[in-house]
Amino acid sequence: MKSFFITTAIDYTNAPPHLGHAYEKILADVIARYHRLKGDPTFFLTGVDQHGQKVQQAAQREDIPVEKFVDQTTEKFLALWKKLDLSYDAWAATTSPLHKTCVRKILQTLYEKGELYKASYRGFYSVRQEQFLTDKERGPDGAFGPEWGEVIELEEENWYFRLARYRDWLLAFLDTHPACVSPGFRQQELRNAAEKLSSDLSISRPKSRLAWGIELPFDSSCVTYVWFDALVNYISFAGYLEDDVAFRERWPALHVIGKDILIPAHGIYWLAMLKAMGFADDEMPTFLVHGYVLVDGDKMSKSLGNIRDPNTFADHFGVEALRYYLMRDCVVGQDMDFTDERLIQRFNSELANGLGNLVNRTLTMAHRYRGGRLCPSIQGGLRDRALAATRAYAEAMEAGSINLALEKVAELVTEANQFVERSAPWKLARETNNEAQLDGILYHLAEVIRLIAIMISPVIPKAAADILEQLNWTGPLALAEASWGVLPEGHQLGKPQPIFPRIEVEHPDTAVASAETLPSAAKPRKKRMG
Ligand code: MSP
Repeated sequence: MKSFFITTAIDYTNAPPHLGHAYEKILADVIARYHRLKGDPTFFLTGVDQHGQKVQQAAQREDIPVEKFVDQTTEKFLALWKKLDLSYDAWAATTSPLHKTCVRKILQTLYEKGELYKASYRGFYSVRQEQFLTDKERGPDGAFGPEWGEVIELEEENWYFRLARYRDWLLAFLDTHPACVSPGFRQQELRNAAEKLSSDLSISRPKSRLAWGIELPFDSSCVTYVWFDALVNYISFAGYLEDDVAFRERWPALHVIGKDILIPAHGIYWLAMLKAMGFADDEMPTFLVHGYVLVDGDKMSKSLGNIRDPNTFADHFGVEALRYYLMRDCVVGQDMDFTDERLIQRFNSELANGLGNLVNRTLTMAHRYRGGRLCPSIQGGLRDRALAATRAYAEAMEAGSINLALEKVAELVTEANQFVERSAPWKLARETNNEAQLDGILYHLAEVIRLIAIMISPVIPKAAADILEQLNWTGPLALAEASWGVLPEGHQLGKPQPIFPRIEVEHPDTAVASAETLPSAAKPRKKRMG
């Protein structure tokens, strides 16, 4: 049976992971978990990009052998993904022998097919940045700026991939596959870039300049260009040229990537590489291109000193608070501005006061008034609204609009809480002959909570499991179970336990500062509450 195959970009191991990396991986994780919830066999691949100049230079700066440096950084990614509860099925680390063998086989095949050729290139070369410069790098005065350090004229022989010959195919492919890139405006940007495609791609680096890479199988003096190595991860770790059956079941993939690496890397190089390898048009991947997580409006960068470590937020506020906030606030495809204040606000209003309160009061009332036993009733008032919300949720999830799907859930929570206020079960309980009405209200609330737990499970899986446990519901965690009337007559509910302790900030004015820089008095403290 065909799998749903989802990948992320693989992160450079030149520095530890930051919030942007975490956002992308959580987004892919949520989509993967949603597909599992639907019952689709799912294969979720993520990993690290371990070769290349950036990584080699970072290791040199730290004066650590590059292999050791890569291992240390990779560990930081692995530890963070474990903490953030990523449910990936396979780990793509590009120094692994399986991957290297696959890259070399592909290079050899392309070489034999005449897709690669050697040529000499003469141009301006920045010694400091170790790269050739083009006119684009010149400043307004026509000179190369001080950031490039010493610039010399250099002639170098390299291997080239006949990229330009794929221009017409790529344009025709994009025109006949309008849903290749989402959001749609990114596909248009890619098309515009493909129109301008006129030169081939240098895919090798002389070892004298860069030793940290995969050696070309037909020229031992060179290693392959890091993108030619990294992009292959999407197929090498899915079984390409290794396990044909597994590969056919999985491929093609949905690639979740950031807006900076669609053009040219994925949209041009990768599609052309696949075409050159012999992949047919209906075997091409699709792309979900997300925006940037900004910090106080700025891109995270070393020079601005605003790089945010996701560990800090997960440790201070809780992993699920972080996951919920990133998924709830960011419109997929657009940039989001990350602030502590907003994270706290979302968590406290929608999870602590909203869902946590709904679960807590429902279970407390059910135990107090009916001994925790349910009695199904058609009357109760929430059924139609709840089913409409699950449909709207599924539609939004299918479209990749996680924030919208969560909005539908949050609205349902609000309505259920308003329903509690309106129907005031505590008043009914004080009077006699209201048992049937009371049963109806409690049953509807319990069913709504069960549906909500199923719907939020891809985003906050631990809280969803906690809620289902408190409901004492042991049925399969599946979207198909999000239908009405599943809890049977006489079902015994579990005891309420706090799920979302409210985040209290003693000095709210400082809450917008990054969690790393919060003075200890202003650090959030968790208060136990429904
Ligand atoms: N190694 C390449 C990708 C190779 S994929 C075959 C790379 N690595 S990266 O570490 O620079 O970026 C990894 C991913 O993180 C990219 O998709 C990138 O867009 C994403 N992000 C990096 N900074 C980001 C934000 N500030 N916000 C959201 N995502 C951003 O590129």
